[in-house]
Parts: sequence; structure tokens; C-alpha cells
Amino acid sequence: MKTQVADLTFELSIPYSSIEKRVTEIATHISNDYSGRVPVMVGILSGSFLFLADLVKQIEIPIEVTFAKLASYYGGTSTTRKIRDDFDLTIDIKGRDIILVEDIVDTGNTIHYLIEKLKVREPGSVTVCTLLLKPKALERAVPELKYTGFELPNDFVVGYGLDYKELGRNLKGIFKKVG
Ligand code: IMP
Repeated sequence: MKTQVADLTFELSIPYSSIEKRVTEIATHISNDYSGRVPVMVGILSGSFLFLADLVKQIEIPIEVTFAKLASYYGGTSTTRKIRDDFDLTIDIKGRDIILVEDIVDTGNTIHYLIEKLKVREPGSVTVCTLLLKPKALERAVPELKYTGFELPNDFVVGYGLDYKELGRNLKGIFKKVG
């Protein structure tokens, strides 16, 4: 199935049915791993909004949910290495168990930047949950990365929250660039 987003053509890479199944598995892991605790799930906006929404609905322990806004892509198809920090966390995370929820970890620079910022506030623990990971694009180790939905080659992808020039976030599956 092909689809046009702005000036680029994409084809279906991960159907929504597979995403749903994987999200349920991750939610079960989180529910088990954090049993007896009340973690704070921090969605990194904008790309994680659908993933976070589907994920939290399947989690069976008490959780708090909040958001942080970061962006590094500025509308292109490759990383700019610049991170724009639009707003900060409004809650006190000292001593809390934090689960950062990302749409995709590419170079790892964005998540590394955010983890360093969070650590100053002395959380009890920090782990990362990402829907997508491009292992070959990683430029630094991310030891906090505990939950990964799918590993991808270095293709540019859109859909299920991820955008190209702010478009394509509403596509139901993950689509990879073909032209
Ligand atoms: P990193 O800092 O290189 O790990 O990039 C992380 C951020 O870049 C993600 O949160 C996305 O916003 C964006 N990004 C990386 N790869 C893609 C992609 O294939 N499609 C859309 N956005 C992407």
C-alpha cells in the first residue's frame, strides 16, 4: 500500500495490527516490571502521542502521565543534531520512577539530552520505552533503553505519530520512504 506525504512517497512497513499486538506486549512488561510502584510515564511530544495513548490504556498498574516537548528534525528526513526544548516538565520527579516514551530512537542524541536533563532533578530511576529503534543509526549507547517495539533499518518513516513536514502523523501504520 503506497501513500503520498507532501513531496515523498511511502509504503506500508508495519501494519496497525502488528503495532497493537506489540504495544500490548510492552504494556504487560511494564505492568509486571513496575508492580507495586507508581511510575511517571513521560510522552515526548509530538511523535509519541498515539503510542503513549495506546500503551497507557493497556497498563494495569497505577501510573501518572505527563509530557515533554522536544524536536530535533525540523521537518526534514535526516537529523539536524539540533534539539529544540519547547517546554519543561511541570511535575516534581525527585525520587520517582520515570519511563520516557519515545516514537523513535535514531541517533540517540535526543533521548540522551533529555535523560541528562532529568537526572539533575534526581529521579529514583529512568528507563526509556520507544516504539521504533534504528540500531544502525545509534551514535551513542542508551543504557536506559529497556522497551523497544520494533527495530528498523535506516529508512525514514512516517505514520502512527511520526511526521514528515508535520504531515503523516495520522496514518494508521508505519510507512517507509520509497521515493
Ligand atoms: P535522534 O535524536 O536522532 O535519536 O532522533 C529522535 C527524533 O528524531 C525522534 O523523536 C523523531 O522526532 C525524529 N526522527 C528520527 N527518525 C525519524 C523518522 O524516520 N521519521 C520521523 N521522525 C524521525
